[in-house]
Amino acid sequence: MPTGILTESPGTTASPAGISRRRLLGIALAAGVAPMFPDAAPVAARGLRRIRLTAAPAIVPLVGGEWPDTAVWAYNGIVPGPEIRVRQGDTVRLTARNELAEATTIHWHGVRLPFAMDGVPDLTQEPIPPGGEFVYEFGAVDAGTFWYHPHANSAEQVGRGLSGALVVEEPEPLRVDRDVVWVLDDWLLVDTAQIDAGFGHPMHMSHGGRLGNTITLNGTIPDEFAVRSGERVRLRLVNVSNARTFGLDFAELRPHVIALDGQPVAPYQPPGGRVVLAAAQRVDLVIDMGGRPGDRVSIADSYYRGRAYRFVDIVYSSEAPLRDSPLDAPIALPRNPLPEPVVDDQAQRETLLLEGGAMGRMPPNADRFLRDRQFWFLNGLPAKGHAESPLFTVELGRTCIVTLRNETGWEHPMHLHGHAFRVLRRNDEPNLRGEWLDTVLIPPQQSVEIGFVADNPGDWMFHCHILEHQMSGMSGIVRVA
Ligand code: C2O
Ligand code: CU
Ligand code: CU
Repeated sequence: MPTGILTESPGTTASPAGISRRRLLGIALAAGVAPMFPDAAPVAARGLRRIRLTAAPAIVPLVGGEWPDTAVWAYNGIVPGPEIRVRQGDTVRLTARNELAEATTIHWHGVRLPFAMDGVPDLTQEPIPPGGEFVYEFGAVDAGTFWYHPHANSAEQVGRGLSGALVVEEPEPLRVDRDVVWVLDDWLLVDTAQIDAGFGHPMHMSHGGRLGNTITLNGTIPDEFAVRSGERVRLRLVNVSNARTFGLDFAELRPHVIALDGQPVAPYQPPGGRVVLAAAQRVDLVIDMGGRPGDRVSIADSYYRGRAYRFVDIVYSSEAPLRDSPLDAPIALPRNPLPEPVVDDQAQRETLLLEGGAMGRMPPNADRFLRDRQFWFLNGLPAKGHAESPLFTVELGRTCIVTLRNETGWEHPMHLHGHAFRVLRRNDEPNLRGEWLDTVLIPPQQSVEIGFVADNPGDWMFHCHILEHQMSGMSGIVRVA
């Protein structure tokens, strides 16, 4: 059993989704907590979930075997942080305590929540100083697989172990035998099994980010994952690594993809059973374990050419099959209360040009930025911190369509806060699946077009989730007002 699953029972002081007033930095928001998503299908208000997360240094057996334990930064002493499970409609109140030697915040990646709860230092809140606390509170409007991580000094804080999964269960969960989260991480360790302290290395920043040398699944190097013949498993994959994209070959396990970035999709079987997961992305799978007792199936990660490795073995127990034919129950999820973008001439159209990086095209006047280790540019400018003037402003309630053109030699998983977006087109071709994402991977020299209804007021970050890219310029703000 995984340790540290937080599923506290609902508190007795359940209140409506009342967000206490806090001092807001950046822009002023309309007062009060009027319905944030007026289109939302009514989700019965449920209980209040109280959770405490403390960020602090810890020592964990990351590599295992004969290797020394690893000094990390962790939530509640474990890596990944505790798996938080709540139910759609719950109000979540998370008290974040900072016992690090530097300021931090917690960002709830993919969760559509009020701006003041988004956890971006100097933009949505003052960073939590060492010894300080901050209370995050929001309603879980969408069911799905999300995650949490700091947004302060992100490359180092996330890279040292601060992240965890946040699962919002559907009011009526899918019928499966097991619902399991796999948090995938990538660590750059030196040969004493300690974390390489060279965060912010210009080589990582200007190339593909900090790729590590040690892959973990739920905080240990994966070897075997035990299953029983005939069982149906819902597997929630979360990629919390700074930079690595995974391309897992499930092959004969023939998974169905049922959700991407927490948002349901019409279930489909990816060709060859291959599941690609860029940094920060999530994929929910349903797998009917069709092998015989005693079988063993290897899952390889073959994403980077010439660097394939065995990721984990699925090992069937010797128990008799749980059933003879796959469970006869639906695997499609109900959609979340997302407003549908309307693609017509009322929609606001924007273009974002991604430039810079090693071997890439630079905008004019790039030199003065490069001296400052600002290697990446959105529409000609690198971001320095979090509080920037906006790339563009969208009127509250309007559909916004953004074309992202990657003119660099590197891939970029681009992430928008506060909203989910539909992927409308890739390379000027319609994208028939039309999946909702919060992080879209754009290969070098390719483009995507996304659409969303700007229904959540605030200054929302839009950045590359290769954290070394984010911190060296590939970041900006979309203002919804
Ligand atoms: Cu995962 Cu700006 O966030
Ligand atoms: Cu985010
Ligand atoms: Cu990038």
